[in-house]
Amino acid sequence: MLFFIDTANIDQIKEAHDLGILDGVTTNPSLMAKEGVIGEQNILDHYKKIAAIVEGDVSAEVIATDYDGMIREGKILAELADNIVVKIPMTKDGIKAISYFSKEGIATNCTLVFSAGQAILAAKAGATYVSPFVGRIDDMAWEGMDLISEISEIYDIQNFETQILAASIRSPLHIVQAAKAGAHVVTCPLSSITGLLYHPLTDIGLEKFLADYKKLNG
Ligand code: E4P
Repeated sequence: MLFFIDTANIDQIKEAHDLGILDGVTTNPSLMAKEGVIGEQNILDHYKKIAAIVEGDVSAEVIATDYDGMIREGKILAELADNIVVKIPMTKDGIKAISYFSKEGIATNCTLVFSAGQAILAAKAGATYVSPFVGRIDDMAWEGMDLISEISEIYDIQNFETQILAASIRSPLHIVQAAKAGAHVVTCPLSSITGLLYHPLTDIGLEKFLADYKKLNG
């Protein structure tokens, strides 16, 4: 399973990259706004900065909601760097745009996916990634991870090549569950990635190893 970080924060991207386990980045307009990146040129420059830090795919989202606008923006985003993936919302125009980019050999990430039916459409259109939002389904008191399992089962049966990118991940447990449910990629905040590091028995064990070493070696 690939690890993407879900942020537009350069320091956090660098920190995850320095760990040596980062495979890519996802962003969205809310995450860009959170970093105070405003204005078309600044946004494009910021994507370029991110794409230069990581070797893997960087999802950059279109703002347009109409087909022509998505194609126009998607082409500009795809030109920024070889590893930019055009992120397009799951709408009728979005599916049409994904279909277009797929035929042009431009990678896409179909975002805001909340059902297996939507995931089937994204795969049929040739999306490189499909992003089911696990945490936002949990927020509605449904089991978001069930959607990852369902899509995984369908994609396996149908031999769809689209990669399942588990999104809206909120905890280290979500990462473990996404891996078990068959996600090809998980995109998460830095805190969820680093949260995987910790176990009290690791700390206790390390403390004892060091204490025993010191007893004999001073
Ligand atoms: C996915 O690509 C989105 O950027 C993201 O995972 C949404 O997460 P949220 O529901 O925590 O905002």
